[in-house]
Amino acid sequence: METPKREPLLRELKNYLTHLKDVGYTEIPCEAELFANVQQQATQPTLSSNKMANNKSLIAVQKELGDCTRCKLSEGRKNIVFGSGNPKADIVFVGEGPGADEDEQGLPFVGRAGKKLTEIIEKGMGLNREKDTYICNIVKCRPPGNRDPEAEEIAACNPFLIQQLKAIKPKVIVALGKPASSTLLGRDVLITKERGTWHEYAGIKLMLTLHPSYLIRFYTLENRKAVHEDMKKVLKELKK
Ligand code: URA
Repeated sequence: METPKREPLLRELKNYLTHLKDVGYTEIPCEAELFANVQQQATQPTLSSNKMANNKSLIAVQKELGDCTRCKLSEGRKNIVFGSGNPKADIVFVGEGPGADEDEQGLPFVGRAGKKLTEIIEKGMGLNREKDTYICNIVKCRPPGNRDPEAEEIAACNPFLIQQLKAIKPKVIVALGKPASSTLLGRDVLITKERGTWHEYAGIKLMLTLHPSYLIRFYTLENRKAVHEDMKKVLKELKK
């Protein structure tokens, strides 16, 4: 894989900073430890070009996350929902954040939306959820009342999402819904318009699709077909 060019990288960075400003950021929290990590990442241009690099294992990332209190979501959570599935999966699904069932069990997508996601993976794609995929969220603690995660909460969790993806190095990432898509792309995504399109996240193919909860709420033939089409594209990419 080619080393990313300076111009697109700067453009992406500018988009990300503009996005943070749009959602209310006035400064960027930067602990010394995190900064050291960013510097290290700068010399490791992509996740997938770096297969042999000594990245942290998922277990090490989870250990670093620890009993996290980096944002206020920690105050109301029962369990941290780190992620589940195969740490060597070719495909990673990234959702928004844990709901009540996930908070209770400490596992992602185990409630109603989880059943729908499992159906998409197993019936729709013919894959095995545990063996073939890894599933996580942009925030690892339940937002109270299932509200959308706030920018600060997303930013506090983001270094861990990045490290998870770096540890797994999948062929494809699927962003489920607007918050996951916007977080991974660093800009505001209009998911109903942009679903089904390919992007790149640190050298990894990124597909945007509708969130399973949206699909449950708006269970139309059009939406079902849309997700089916998106997953067909993902399967084609996985077979390459
Ligand atoms: N919705 C999400 O986005 N993530 C979960 O883990 C569960 C529901």
